[in-house]
Formats: sequence, C-alpha cells, structure tokens
Amino acid sequence: MCRDGMMATQTPPKARDMDLSVNLAPSHKVELLLRNPIMTGSGTFSNGLELASHYDINALGAIVSKGTTLQPRKGNPTPRTVETPAGMINAIGFQNIGVSALIRDIAPVWARWSVPAIANIMGYTREEYGALAARLDGVPGIAGLEVNISCPNVEAGGLEFGQDPHAAAGVVREVAANTSLPFIVKLTPSVSDIRPIAQAVEQAGAHAITVSNTVPAMMIDVKRRRPVIPNGFGGLSGPAVKPIAIRNVFLSASVVSIPVVASGGIMTGTDVVEFIMAGATAAQVGTATFLDPSAPWRILRELEAWCAAEGVTSVDEIRGAAHQTEPRRD
Ligand SMILES: Cc1cc2nc3c(=O)[nH]c(=O)nc-3n(C[C@H](O)[C@H](O)[C@H](O)COP(=O)(O)O)c2cc1C
Repeated sequence: MCRDGMMATQTPPKARDMDLSVNLAPSHKVELLLRNPIMTGSGTFSNGLELASHYDINALGAIVSKGTTLQPRKGNPTPRTVETPAGMINAIGFQNIGVSALIRDIAPVWARWSVPAIANIMGYTREEYGALAARLDGVPGIAGLEVNISCPNVEAGGLEFGQDPHAAAGVVREVAANTSLPFIVKLTPSVSDIRPIAQAVEQAGAHAITVSNTVPAMMIDVKRRRPVIPNGFGGLSGPAVKPIAIRNVFLSASVVSIPVVASGGIMTGTDVVEFIMAGATAAQVGTATFLDPSAPWRILRELEAWCAAEGVTSVDEIRGAAHQTEPRRD
C-alpha cells in the first residue's frame, strides 16, 4: 500500500499557468496562505506525523490537528466508530494529548515543515477557548487555529456553542482577544439554518469558517438490542453527509464574505470542485483518509487534472459558480 501511496503523491504535469493557491485569512494582518485548497480534516489525520513519513506532507495545502483541549483526554470507551452504508459514525470523545504536549512535542515538528499546520481547539467554556488561543499564540510551527464550536456549552446546559449565534459569537470574540493568529471557526450542521451562525461568527471576527462538522447519528445493534457505540450517539461523516455539507456551504457562502472551508464527504477531486462551485475556498479531506491514507494527495492530483482538462487556472475562476442564476449557454 505504501508503494502505491508513494506513487499516488506524484502529481501530473500542471497547466503552465495553473495557480491553485488560496488565502484563508485575507481580512487579517497575518495571512493564512495555502499552496492549494486541499486540507486534512481534524481528527482524521492525527497530528500528521504518521502519514508524513509515507507521503509528501508539504504538497498539501494545510494540515489540521486533532481537536485539542486544555487537558489531555482519554476519550470514550470503545467501540468508538462504526461503519454505515455510506459513511461512518464516530464518538471518539475528543481523545487528545492536550495543549501542553501539542506545544512541546508536535509544534516543533510542524515548524520544520513548509505546509501550514492549523491547531484545532475545543473548550467547554468560553474562557477555555480563550485560554487555548492564548497558549498557542506565537508558538513556532502553528500557522493558525480552527475553533471547533460543535461542543456542549457547559454553562448553557449543554446546548452546543455552534447552535446559538450569541454563544458562537462569544467564543469568537474570546479567541480574537487572545491571539494574533488567523483563525477559522468550524460550524455544526445541527441547526435549522446555518446562515445566522455564519454571520454571527464573521461579525465577531472570524477570518474564515469551516462548514460543516459531523451530523448527529445513531445505530442500534439488533442482536444486543443496544446502541452500537456505548456512548449511544455519534457523528456521521463520509459520503452520506456530502449533500448536507454542500447545501450548508452554499448557504453560508451566500451571506459571508470571509472564506468558507468545505468539510463533509469529500472523496474525489470532483467533490472538491462541487464544493468550490458552492462557494468554498478550500476543502478538507476527512473520512476518505480512513479508506485510503493517500486520499488527500490523490484528491489534489484529481483536482489538478480536472482544472487542467477544463482550462481552469485558479480557484477564483470557479468559486461560487453554482450561485449564478443565469443558466449557462455554452
Ligand atoms: C474519527 C473522527 C474524529 C473527528 N475528530 C474531530 C475533532 O477532533 N475536531 C473537529 O473539529 N472535527 C472532528 N471530526 C470531524 C471531521 O474533521 C470532519 O469535519 C467530518 O468528519 C466531515 O468530513 P468527512 O465526511 O470528510 O469526514 C472528526 C471526524 C472523524 C470521522
């Protein structure tokens, strides 16, 4: 598999003038420049060290860490993942090494890479988000933050921060006050309308948004007559959620002017094109990496091949194309 994977990292010849680079923080004094739009999805790529020894990590647009909390977390009891007909459900429970170990052991490795590394952070109170942002500010190797607000707000009785525009904006203001790093806010699809949340986080100072996280889901083991995952519920990801994520990207992109990063069921280069046409600037590869560890590199190659075949030389040429109301005549 590794040998195949190594071959998969060889990119085809690009159109001479193709430049797929994107900036995820054009509104900020510190830019977040990606050489191409392909990122890894938080929690599906660990902190990047394992796959970096097999594939050319610096060929990617950016990598995103596992969700990091103030203290290390062991996560939920196993099984924590289950396959579904078109995806998987996970309830990892935010197992992670904690922010101190991330700074001590991982960031120095990232500092030697040219690919931007983005730390995904998660708190249980607004103050925890602020504390995480402050700890990571100015740490060599950390190019930006992704703020996961799909987390129960313990002060508000467990409603996710991302389900309430005021709570979401409160987190964003707290992060903005504690870091000079560019930061992306990752939204949950568990809302009836994502637009007010997207607008609230933009107004509060987010430099970009990721749309969207996993969809709450459940599977029952009929033999045991119990939920398959001991936790009961989990988050659905993979191809099953792609049309939901496309709609959420489309809706978000219609109301914000900051970049939208797509996440949800991306398995091929054409999926990325679809999300860009819905209004995305970049795209995260998540569950696909569980099926094929070389997926981010393969998808990049497929995106470049699509652009070359279509004569597309930059992401800007196709971004938001699906928003045009006039039917195409050609
Ligand atoms: C096993 C697993 C762990 C995840 N952990 C996190 C996490 O720690 N933080 C986060 O923001 N998203 C996490 N996610 C969500 C993914 O980053 C991604 O947004 C979601 O799975 C949808 O994309 P996909 O269908 O391409 O996987 C996780 C997803 C999976 C499958």
